[in-house]
Amino acid sequence: MLGWFTRYFTGTDSIAVPPTPSRKRIAPGPGESYDVSRRPPPFGHPLKHYFALDDKYVNLNHGSYGSIPLPVIYAANQLAYEIDANPDVFNRVAYKPRLAKSREAVAKLIGADTGEVVLVPNATHALNTILRNFEWREGDLIIGATTTYGAVSNTIRYLTDRSEQPRPKMLTIVYNFPLTHAEVLELFRAKIREAKQQYADTQFTDVPPLSEGYDRDPAEKKNKIVAVIDSITSNPGVLLPWKDMCSIAREEGVWTVIDAAHSIGQEQHINLSDTKPDFWLSNCHKWLFAKRGCAVLYVPKRNQYIIKSSLPTSHQYVSPNSPKYKELGTNFVMQHEWTGTTDETPYITVPTAIAFREWLGGEQAIYDYCHKLAMDGARRLAEIMGTKLLDESGVLVATMSNVYLPLPVEKAPGEIYSPEVLANISMFMMNKLLFEYNTYAGHFFHNGAWMCRCSAQVFNDMSDFEYVGKVFNTICEEVKDTILSNMHGKQLGHLRPSSPDEEDWVIVTY
Ligand SMILES: Cc1ncc(COP(=O)(O)O)c(C=O)c1O
Repeated sequence: MLGWFTRYFTGTDSIAVPPTPSRKRIAPGPGESYDVSRRPPPFGHPLKHYFALDDKYVNLNHGSYGSIPLPVIYAANQLAYEIDANPDVFNRVAYKPRLAKSREAVAKLIGADTGEVVLVPNATHALNTILRNFEWREGDLIIGATTTYGAVSNTIRYLTDRSEQPRPKMLTIVYNFPLTHAEVLELFRAKIREAKQQYADTQFTDVPPLSEGYDRDPAEKKNKIVAVIDSITSNPGVLLPWKDMCSIAREEGVWTVIDAAHSIGQEQHINLSDTKPDFWLSNCHKWLFAKRGCAVLYVPKRNQYIIKSSLPTSHQYVSPNSPKYKELGTNFVMQHEWTGTTDETPYITVPTAIAFREWLGGEQAIYDYCHKLAMDGARRLAEIMGTKLLDESGVLVATMSNVYLPLPVEKAPGEIYSPEVLANISMFMMNKLLFEYNTYAGHFFHNGAWMCRCSAQVFNDMSDFEYVGKVFNTICEEVKDTILSNMHGKQLGHLRPSSPDEEDWVIVTY
C-alpha cells in the first residue's frame, strides 16, 4: 500500500495507478440481482423475494415510504464503495454524467425535456424550492386544500406567517370525499372565482406564460394566484383530475404547482409536455423504487427564470445582476447538480430502479396488476369488514384504495370523536398493527369516518388484503370496547417501543 502511495504521489514509477474500486466489490446475494434474459416471477408474493421486506411483514403501506428492490439496494451499496474508493474521482469527474443519465431517464418517463428536470432529496424539498422562489407581493394568493399534505400546507402557512412583508394569503378548498372528478373540478373553479370576487380590488395580472394576458414586462405584473394541487392526495389516497385542473387554472390565469409526490411509478400516462403544469414534482423513492431520498423537480424552460436559487443556494448560482445571467439565465440544471455535500447514491439509483421495473414487464404491466389488486383487494377488505369502498367506480384509484373501517360515523364534527380521541385511536391502531400484527396500512379520519388506505404493490396479493381486513376487524372491536366506551378523551398510554432502549417514540401520522 505504501509503495503504491509513494509511486502515485511522487510519480517515480510509471505504474502509478490508484487502487480500483473493484477490489471491494461484494457479490450479489439471493434476490440482489436478476437475469434479464429470464422471465421474472409472477407478480405477488413470489416477487417478495426481490425485496428486503421481512418475510412475515405484511406491507400494505408502500405509499408512505416506498420499499426498494434488492437489486437497487445492491447497486447503491456498490456505488457507496465506488464513491469512497476515490471520493475525488467520483465527485469531481464521475458523478455529473451519472446524474445526467438519471435525469434523462426520469425525463423520458414523464414526457419532459432533460433540461427541465432536476433531482432533489424529496417532495417537501422540491415544493419548498418552488414556493420560496416565487417573488411574493402583498395581495398574492395561494390556494391549497384540506387534503394538502401537512408539510406542504405548513410551507404555505409559513409564507403567510412570515414577520416580513410581503406575505401571500392562503385560501383552502374543502374536499370532503367521496367526490366525483367533476365535483372536484367544480370546487376548484369555484374557489378561484370566489377568490377573485373576494379580492375584487386586486389586479391579478401576474398570470403564467401560457395564460391569456401574459406580459413579460415585470412592470405590468401586479398580483398572482398560485394553486398547489395534489395529483394523488395522501389521506385519503385519491387520484385527482389534476390535468383538467391545470387547464382550468390556465384559463383563469392561475399558476399551478403540482404536488405529484405519489405519481411517478403509480400513475399512468404522465406527459408533462402535454399537460403543461407550471411546476411539478414527484418522489422517485416512493413508487419508482429509487433509493430514499430522491425526488424529481420539473420546471419547464418558460418558468425557470422564477427558480433563482436552489435550496440551499449552490456554487452555480447566477446573480441576475451578473453579466453571466444573460447567457445562463438562472442556470436551473447546473445549480441543482451540487447543492452541498451529500450522499449522491439515491439520485444515481434511478436507472437501476427503472431497469428492474422494465424486467418486471414495464410501467403498464405494473400499473395493471397494482390497480386491479387495489380495487379487488379493497372490495375483499370491505366484504371482510362489512363496510364499503370510498370509491366503487375506481376513478379515484391509481394503486392506492380507501376502505371505510367498521367504526361509528360522525354526523357532526366532534359528535363522537374529539381531537384527543382521534389521536388516541390513531396511536392505538398504529401500535397494534405494527407490534401485534406485524403489518401496516394507512388509517385516518376523513369527513366524519375512519378509513384505511391500502397500497397495492407488485409484491402484494389478495391474501395481504384479507389479513389486514381481519386485523382491522379485531382492532376496531377493541377501539369500540376501550377507547370509545371507557376512555373517551383520555390519553391512552404510550406507543410500545420496539426495544427496551427506545423509550420515547414520536408519533407520525401519514
Ligand atoms: C401528497 C404528498 N406530498 C408530499 C409528501 C412529502 O414527501 P417527502 O416526505 O418525501 O418529502 C408526501 C409524503 O407522503 C405526500 O403524500
